[in-house]
Amino acid sequence: KWPEAVTIKEVGPRDGLQNEKIFIATNEKINWINQLSHSGLTYIEITSFVHPKWIPTLADAMEVSKKIKRVDGVTYAALVPNLKGLDKAIEANIDEVSVFMSASETHNKKNINKSIEETFPVLEKVVKKAHASGKSVRGYISTVFGCPYEGDVSIHSIVNVSEKLFDMGICELSLGDTIGVANPRQVQEVLSVLLKKFPAKSLAMHFHNTRGTALANVIASFGMGVTTIDSSIGGLGGCPYAPGASGNLATDDLIYMLDGMGILTGVNKQKLDKAALYIQEKIGRPLLSHNIQANQGK
Ligand code: HMG
Ligand code: MG
Repeated sequence: KWPEAVTIKEVGPRDGLQNEKIFIATNEKINWINQLSHSGLTYIEITSFVHPKWIPTLADAMEVSKKIKRVDGVTYAALVPNLKGLDKAIEANIDEVSVFMSASETHNKKNINKSIEETFPVLEKVVKKAHASGKSVRGYISTVFGCPYEGDVSIHSIVNVSEKLFDMGICELSLGDTIGVANPRQVQEVLSVLLKKFPAKSLAMHFHNTRGTALANVIASFGMGVTTIDSSIGGLGGCPYAPGASGNLATDDLIYMLDGMGILTGVNKQKLDKAALYIQEKIGRPLLSHNIQANQGK
């Protein structure tokens, strides 16, 4: 049985742009996010309040957050690694902040410069202060389906990090296939363990499409009852601290499939395609999404 409706969380302005070589001008980012806001998407992760030396392409996080035109019914989210990032996100009046860490030691260290154990108290403080400031907090766990440095990641570590994040009070946990190595059987196996502990409604899937398995993994997630999917318009995206990570599952490919299946998303595909073409022009290279490539081949 297919789900009637699916929730899409657009991460293009954050995950998409963080891995680009060029800096998209602030006013162009703002125009683009404003287009996305009018496409029917209800959740947009617009930027990151991380160290600009680590992610230079999002160094304008404050200006972008303050200057976009917010649309009622859209949640505007941003990544924060620590209290410093949270304070900026609060100043920028972000609706929801996302904390992030990895299930594998080496990726965690390379990405946020701490061991897994050292990360918990940092994030605990972030979640507490965010809640005290009236912000909801989403959690990400990276390298769930494989680590670029360590290979296989133990289910024990995935469960341990997930439990700690839920104990802190996150409202949703997004399971990251950071380098796009997952397959549908693995998705089923990981979810069958996590779903014994956490409700399907509290989980989201975050697939990168490095090896073309993301849509198949989405279908496997539906089979397990998980219907919140992160994706990035045009298939932009990747983690600069995960060698080999390429674009996220493309929002427009996902919408194409879901529209055809009669599964509701609330997103207007024509408006989304227009926003994809806009950022393609600014980035100056063809986007990876099959949808955009097929349209341009017409
Ligand atoms: P650190 O160097 O250990 O930080 O970096 P620190 O606490 O030791 O501070 C060092 C300096 O950084 C200090 O400045 C701080 O003030 C400053 P100084 O006193 O030397 O002048 N600083 C900051 N500046 C701005 N914003 C901040 C901030 N925090 C400290 N928030 C840190 C630790 C976490 C900051 C760094 O490692 C970092 O920024 N990492 C971010 C990496 C990142 O963004 N990776 C990509 C996102 S995760 C991802 O893509 C995966 C995901 O998509 C899911 C999936 O696909 O799996 C979510
Ligand atoms: Mg990602």
